[in-house]
This record gives sequence, structure tokens and C-alpha cells, in this order.
Amino acid sequence: MNKKNFIPVCEPLYLGNEERYALDAIRSQWISSAGGYIEKFEDQFSSYCGVEYGITTTSGTTALHLALKSLGVKGGDEIIIPDFTMIAVLFAVLYCGAKPVFVDVEPDTWNIDVKKIEKKITSKTKVILPVHIYGHPVDMEPIMKLAGKYNLYIIEDAAEAHGAEYVGKKCGSIGHINCFSFYANKIITTGEGGMVVTSDPEFADKCRYYKNLCFSLHGKRDYMHDDLGYNYRMTNVQAALGLAQLENIDKFVERRRNNARVYNKLLRDIPGIQLPVEKEYAKNVYWMYGIVIDPEEFGRTRDELMTNLKEKGVGTRRFFNPMHKQKVLKKLGIKDEESYPVTEWLSQNGFYLPSASGLEYEETEYICNAIRKFYI
Ligand SMILES: Cc1ncc(COP(=O)(O)O)c(C=O)c1O
Repeated sequence: MNKKNFIPVCEPLYLGNEERYALDAIRSQWISSAGGYIEKFEDQFSSYCGVEYGITTTSGTTALHLALKSLGVKGGDEIIIPDFTMIAVLFAVLYCGAKPVFVDVEPDTWNIDVKKIEKKITSKTKVILPVHIYGHPVDMEPIMKLAGKYNLYIIEDAAEAHGAEYVGKKCGSIGHINCFSFYANKIITTGEGGMVVTSDPEFADKCRYYKNLCFSLHGKRDYMHDDLGYNYRMTNVQAALGLAQLENIDKFVERRRNNARVYNKLLRDIPGIQLPVEKEYAKNVYWMYGIVIDPEEFGRTRDELMTNLKEKGVGTRRFFNPMHKQKVLKKLGIKDEESYPVTEWLSQNGFYLPSASGLEYEETEYICNAIRKFYI
């Protein structure tokens, strides 16, 4: 147990130049969205991913919105997303007036079930938007094949998967245009922030255009605007923090993977707990270490275990609720009465344990012992 007698689910970790670069940005007076750190962070993060261009944004949510806008997504288009995901994915689709089409997820990776996508494709489908949940890469090859067969775009949501790899390729380098979040719990953070990455110069320019209120990219500033734009600009101070974090990304990824090794070792033999996997095609970065409780086998429910851990000073978070059940859809007149049994099961029985890059061995041991003692 740590000094504060509470182990949070996640907190940021600074290993290098965070304070120095942020202070430098502040002292330089370049505190808005111009300034050297923005370009450096965009260049270095996109090269880290193996992609040509990076466009910083205010969040992962706005990165998704920009990516969809840059592909020309509009009302009437259908966007295929996993039913088990973070709400920002659904919202970004709704911001465009497009229709979300849900697909259930795989029971082991918790990612979109690639075998179930094709039957959801219609003449209105424009984009498939796979999400690398909790740091495990989606099986991208079959999805890219569908994109070729049906002439669709792919947007990877790699918000939770910095540094994760699919068959040796970084997540965020496979789809046509891909998104990251740098929220404080992410593997590298800028506090709030995000980035779109792509190797397509036209999509990159569209993102730059929309994110800056549709000011003309190359022409003169005459304060005439041809399109509806947004202010999704990251600040130079945030980018300074991001650049410093990026310098140590391999260490952060290794620490997350090490957390998982320890959890796997200490939890493996407790009945009724499903642990995260790492498929042969994947390098999982275990952004969050999720587990799923089978109440019959474990003898207690997920919620009972979470409450017990809380009493013992351990922070946890339950898994996402299914997208198709979000009340906002009803208000918008969108109905979906299909069933998504895997998502339902995960949402009822899954939660994640403390997963910060700074988590210590003794803390993990304490958490696993607490779980073991609660098992009946
Ligand atoms: C998969 C996924 N997509 C998008 C987002 C949205 O990112 P942000 O919180 O930076 O808007 C998150 C946030 O945690 C996420 O987990």
C-alpha cells in the first residue's frame, strides 16, 4: 500500500523533462497554439507511430470528430463502431449527424468482433471505426480487407493503445486516419489533448483546416469562412508536456506491460476471474488491466468485489456500458433493438484494477491478496 493509503486506478508519471519544457513554453510567451513544441510533438509522435502527419487537438474526442469530418462524413452515413467502447466514439459519430451501427465484441480481447462486421455493411456505410480496447490491438487485417472490398475508410481509435503493435506495426499506423487521446490517465499525457495521425496529406490538411475554425490554410486571412469550423487547438504548454512524455514512452509502455505480468502471475489461479489476453498478432500495452468476474465461479459479484477493494483502499473502475443502450440515442430518435451478449456480459462483470505506470510491486501484491481473500 502506498503512502496515501489509497491506490488510485491511475495517475500520471513524470520521468524527465516535463517541468523544464512546460516552464520553457510559459516563459517563452508562446502559450497558445503557436510555438515550437506543437510542431515537435506532432512530428515526433507521428514518426513514433510510423505515420507521416500528426495534427494535435484538444482531446481524443475532438480528434475523432476531426477524423470523421476530414473523410467527409455527414448525415445519412453509417459508421460501424464496437458496442463496447468509450462514449466519445459514439458522440463523435453523432456530432457529424451520422448513424452509429454497433457490432458486438470478442469475448477474449474485448475488441470489435471482426467476424461480425461484414453483415452490418450497407450501401450507406462509410467508415469502420475499430477501437483498441484497454491497449489490446484489434485484428486489423480482416478489417483492412473489408475496407478494400467495400471501398470504406478505416479510423483506428488508439486512444488507449499508445505503443501497442499489430503484427509489428504500431496501432495508429494501419487505418486511413487514426486518433489518440492524451488525457491524464493515458500512457503519455498532455493533461487534456489528442492527436490525429495519417499519411494522407489531404486528410491532414482537412484536419488542420477544421480544427482552426476553417481559416484558410494557405490564403490570406480575410476573415471569410467557407465552412463550419471548430477550435480544437492544443496549446504549446500542453505540447511541451507531451514531448517530454514522449521521450520516455518506451519506459511507460514497459512499466504497463510489467504491471500485467505481475497481475497475471498473482491472479492466474483464482477461479472465476478472466484475465486480459495477448493474441499472437498483438503487443498489448495493458493501458488498463481489466478483469471479468464470473459470479458463479468466484462466489461474489463484480460490484461486491469492487466495494470490498474500495474499503481496502484500492481504486477500481467498472467497464463501459453498451453503446446501444445509451439513453441519448432514444432522445435522438435512434433505435437499436439487437442484442449484444458479449458486451452485456462485460459491462455487468468487468472492471479494471490500478494500472498506472508508477504502480509498485508491493501495491500489486496487496491488491491481488485482497482479491484472493475475498474469493469464496
Ligand atoms: C477509446 C477512447 N476513445 C476516445 C476517448 C476520448 O478521449 P478524451 O477523453 O481525450 O476526449 C477515450 C478517452 O478516454 C477513449 O478511451
